Amino acid sequence: MRATHQRLYVNVDHVATLRQARRSHEPDPVAAAAVCESSGADGITAHLREDRRHIQDEDIHLLAQNVRTVLNLEMALTEEMLVLAEHLRPHQVTLVPERREEVTTEGGLDVTREPNALAKGLARLKRAGIRSSLFIDPDAGAVRSSRELGADAIELHTGRYANAIGDARHIAALRTCSTLGAELGLAIHAGHGLTVNNVGLVAEIPEIEELNIGHAIVSRAVFVGISAAVREMHAAIHAARGM
Ligand code: PXP
Repeated sequence: MRATHQRLYVNVDHVATLRQARRSHEPDPVAAAAVCESSGADGITAHLREDRRHIQDEDIHLLAQNVRTVLNLEMALTEEMLVLAEHLRPHQVTLVPERREEVTTEGGLDVTREPNALAKGLARLKRAGIRSSLFIDPDAGAVRSSRELGADAIELHTGRYANAIGDARHIAALRTCSTLGAELGLAIHAGHGLTVNNVGLVAEIPEIEELNIGHAIVSRAVFVGISAAVREMHAAIHAARGM
């Protein structure tokens, strides 16, 4: 089974990181999202963190209003964020773990911790008509638990793969968990640390239908602009998919 089109959702968090370095008005992640969309992005991802280090509340409201493709809201499982999601009704919510001191989302969700809270949160998202995804490490137990908890999708954390590109165990784990998840009826997404140079092996995995990519695209945009950066990433994904 080879999925023909693999969705590229561009994460615009680090456009906001650059703006927040000066607490000014530019660059604007909402304007960047529009350029990403016109350059072929299939969706826009943004993470409203508890510490508001990059995306601000106003950004997420404006993204929800202005994104013309679909908005994937990344958030921690907190009452504040669930209420916001129920209000904004994005196309999709990806639940991620959050630790204040981390530089980025370092590991996947621990789905064995507080399974009741997770199941209740997923049920609330479903009632609000929002597709749900759990950001997990490529671990068979976590894939099975995600299914039992009622998620629609899993996003496999590609950080370990990206950090140790020569280590075949990481891509093998991503492949195995993609197959297992798809067999269980989950939609399979992947992301974190992907670049034009390492995206190929992940994009090749037939079950993976969506990639969430941010830092590499925003970094490349400094040199070539965000439109070209999105197009380059798309080209790398399409080449790997044999399209
Ligand atoms: N997916 C999830 C769940 C994330 O938390 C992040 C980082 O915000 C990404 C994908 C994108 O990672 P990167 O910025 O390294 O491309």
